Parts: sequence; C-alpha cells; structure tokens
Amino acid sequence: MRVLLLGGGGREHAIGWKLVQSPKLDALISCPGNPGLAELGLVVPDIDPTDAAAIIKLVAANSIDLVIVGPEAPLAAGIADALTDLGIAVFGPSKAGAQLEASKSFAKDVMVGAGIPTASSETFTDATLAKAHLAQTDGPYVVKANGLAAGKGVLVTESLQDADAWVDECLEGRFGSPDASVVIEEYMDGDEVSVFFLCSDGVAVSFEPARDYKRLSDGDHGPNTGGMGSYSPVDDLPADLVEWTTERVALPALSELERRGISYTGFLYVGLMLTSDGPRVIEFNVRLGDPETQALMPRLSSDLLAAIDAATRGALSYVDLRWTETATVNVVLAADGYPVAPRTGDEIDLGTPTEGSIVFHAGTSRDGDRLLTGGGRVLNVVGTGDTIDEARMNAYATAATIKFTGKHFRTDIGAIRRDS
Ligand code: AMP
Ligand code: GLY
Repeated sequence: MRVLLLGGGGREHAIGWKLVQSPKLDALISCPGNPGLAELGLVVPDIDPTDAAAIIKLVAANSIDLVIVGPEAPLAAGIADALTDLGIAVFGPSKAGAQLEASKSFAKDVMVGAGIPTASSETFTDATLAKAHLAQTDGPYVVKANGLAAGKGVLVTESLQDADAWVDECLEGRFGSPDASVVIEEYMDGDEVSVFFLCSDGVAVSFEPARDYKRLSDGDHGPNTGGMGSYSPVDDLPADLVEWTTERVALPALSELERRGISYTGFLYVGLMLTSDGPRVIEFNVRLGDPETQALMPRLSSDLLAAIDAATRGALSYVDLRWTETATVNVVLAADGYPVAPRTGDEIDLGTPTEGSIVFHAGTSRDGDRLLTGGGRVLNVVGTGDTIDEARMNAYATAATIKFTGKHFRTDIGAIRRDS
C-alpha cells in the first residue's frame, strides 16, 4: 500500500516508524513530515495538511491508497470529508465527528447523551453570567476555551480572580474567534491516564493505556505544556480499566454519534481522571496523544497498517491489537523558551543512542547537512526495557548524549508514576 501520513510531530514520526515495519507498506509519504520521517520515505514539507485541494492533488500524484491523519486540525477543517467524497480511503473522522475535540460543548453533549461519566459543565457566551456562575461555586475552578486551542485553552486554578480573567481571555477570542464561548466545569481530583482506540462502524479496538506529564518542570511544577514525557504500561490502574473504557465510554460515544448521523472512523483519545468515585472522562480527542504515542508504538507487536486498513474496510471487528511486555519511557527534549516562546535554529548533535532507545523527531528542521531545532518540543527519546526503571535509564542515557543549546527536559519521567 502507498500511504500518506498527515502531520509532522513526534506522534507522526512514531506512527510512521511503526507503519514502515508493515509488510503491507510499499511507500510512506508524509506531509508536512519532519527530518525523522524523511528517513522513512518522501516528505512534502510545503503543503499545509488542512488544504484539502492540495492534499487531493498530492494523493493523485503519488497514487496513494490510504491517508492517515495524525493531528486534529486537518480533521476539524474537513479533510476526511473531502477525501471520502472522492472515494479516497482515509483514517480520521469527518468534520462533524472531529467536533468531539474541536468543540468542548459538543463533546459534553455527546457524553451526557451517552451517559458517560464526566464532570458536570455549563457553556457561556456572556462573561457576566460565566463569572456569576464561578462565584457561586467553590474552587478549584476549571475554565476552558470551547474551541481548539492547541492544548492551551484550559485553566485549573484555586483563584477566583484568575478564573474570571481566563473567562475574559477566552471570550475575547485569545483561543479562537471573538464570538467564542467558554466552558466551566466541575473540578475532578485524581490521577490521569490516556486510553486510545481505533474506531469504525461502531467498533472500538483499544490500545494499552499510557500516561503523560503535562507540567514543564520536575515534580509537576511550572506551566502546562503539550507534554514533557510519557510512559507505558501504567502500573497503578484498576485491572478492568481498558474494558471499562471500551464499554462505558468508547462504544456509547460511537452509538451516540451514530444516533446523530455521524459515522466515526479514526483514532479516539479518551482522557480519564481516576477519581475516588471511579474513572471519569476529562476530554475526547480525535487523534492519538502526543507524547503518549511515542511510548506506545514500540510496545505494539501487531501490524498497525493492517489494523487501520481493516478499519477503513469495515473489518475492524476482526482486529485484535497485541502488545509486548516491554516498558517504555519517553523523555521530551524541549527548546529554550518552551512553552511560551521557543527559540529555533539551534544546531542539534544527535549524539549516540544507547541500545534500547529510539529517538523520534518533533520540532526539528534541516539546513543542508545540519539538523536544527525548529519547534518547542524538539525530540522524543524513548527508552525501552523489561521494567519502567530500565526503560527510564536507557532514555536518559541517550538524552544525555544529545546536545543543543537551550536543551531542557524533566528528569523525573517514569520516576514519579502518579501524576498528582
Ligand atoms: P483538557 O484540554 O480538557 O484535557 O484539559 C487539560 C488538562 O486540564 C487536563 O489534562 C487536566 O489535567 C486538567 N483538567 C481538565 N478538566 C479538568 C477537570 N474538570 N478537573 C480537573 N482537572 C481538569
Ligand atoms: N498528551 C496530550 C495530548 O496529546 O493532548
């Protein structure tokens, strides 16, 4: 098969790394790709994956059999609809399905309609009403921009004043259009974990759980980031969590979407909070997690391409993903200034990977022979081992040999296993 992979982050490098191990793959083309993906196939850096007309041309020019969409933005822009209309196989939901991530209020509606345990919430377009609602409740306060905000639209705070200010920022359009709305949620306390699914035709096939670390600094301090590391397997989960998430979350969500006329094909990301009252959903995303995917792909023994191909052909119910016992720890090496204003253009020396480690590119770029930093999260160093401790040692040994000015990373990924 000739596959076009949309996206160019660490998640996509890990997906691509797994796809090229498939005997079914004839060629991998990535758009926009990154220097890591360039080692696995052709990359097309100058086309925007949200530009449906350009992607359709790319598909035709390269005789693509299947398009796999990594990030949410092309899906929210309707790339799957445009491809499906032309009979091109695509793994990723329609624009309507992508509302699960692009609209927090839509996701909440689906959860409520499907009876999925989650935090109660209300949506406001008026700042005065939103603030009056906040004033009636005790903290901590959870205030979310309703639309896509690249992971930066959520504030969880003890301070009513900060929560009020966030309401203003959301409604003034900092995270989207000026007519944006804001979602105020009940606060949930507990440890978080991510569970992913392959979905199509009302069938959901689960991945192993993974956990990420959102805060910038050791000990879970500092600002929220896109994720500073991850690990899998997660050892402190209820034994039936994956089954529970399939039966109580993924399948009911797919049925509820179906009831609304939306047939959902693609990855589904279920972010869970393990509260004292049991697991509850924090959010849905319509993609795999980044940086969780980088920790999961090296653990997957099944053929990912065969599974995705089956999903796009209505045969997902025959798929059973298998996982190795290997443990993985993914340490993100970030650029100077991340997450506020990452500096780019610093030269990277990739050092010498130790045995038992894999380096996935995220924010890197090429300038001739030189590899440069090109984004906030620069590289993902995944250590593998029989235990999390061994995987952690391997990841940090390789991370130490990689050099670029401003490199910073957390030193406790995989060491503190619970995240609160
Ligand atoms: P989201 O983008 O909705 O996943 O939110 C980003 C992060 O904010 C989550 O990973 C949680 O750490 C935190 N968060 C979101 N919603 C809640 C909530 N209702 N209660 C507590 N923490 C939350
Ligand atoms: N790891 C969090 C996310 O992908 O949204």
